Amino acid sequence: MMKSLNAALLVLAFSATLFGGVPELWSKERLGVPGNGKILYNKLKCNYCHKINGDGGDVGPDLTAIGAKAKGVEWHIKTLTDPRSTHPRHPTPHMPKFDKLTDKMLLDLASYLESLK
Ligand code: HEC
Repeated sequence: MMKSLNAALLVLAFSATLFGGVPELWSKERLGVPGNGKILYNKLKCNYCHKINGDGGDVGPDLTAIGAKAKGVEWHIKTLTDPRSTHPRHPTPHMPKFDKLTDKMLLDLASYLESLK
């Protein structure tokens, strides 16, 4: 009885790390859709703080060619969910944490950003 409960808990914990954790979220098999990411970018008002091709605000860095930096999808997901983790030296972080988005939304946003070159 105890044994099967432990086994069930183990399976649960394992799937939580597989499917729930941010760093494990991305893999070569799970790519986002840049077109959906672009829609999300507009919906979430990222342009309030960021410029793409001259369009948007000045609070954050210009993202026109962010994809050319080839940071990778995982870096973008980290930046979105916890900007401080990828920008530790920024004196006053202004980027809000987008940590309530679904995995799919994060993947789509990240692949959109990677496509900006
Ligand atoms: C309230 C302003 C604000 C909003 C809204 C915002 N950001 Fe940011 N963003 C920043 C700032 C400021 C930085 C610089 C790092 C920091 O201070 O956290 C940044 C950094 C970034 C970076 C890293 C750029 C680089 O060159 O290092 C990316 C990518 C990014 N934001 C994407 C987004 C996306 C996508 C959204 C919408 C989901 C978004 N941001 C919404 C202010 C904002």
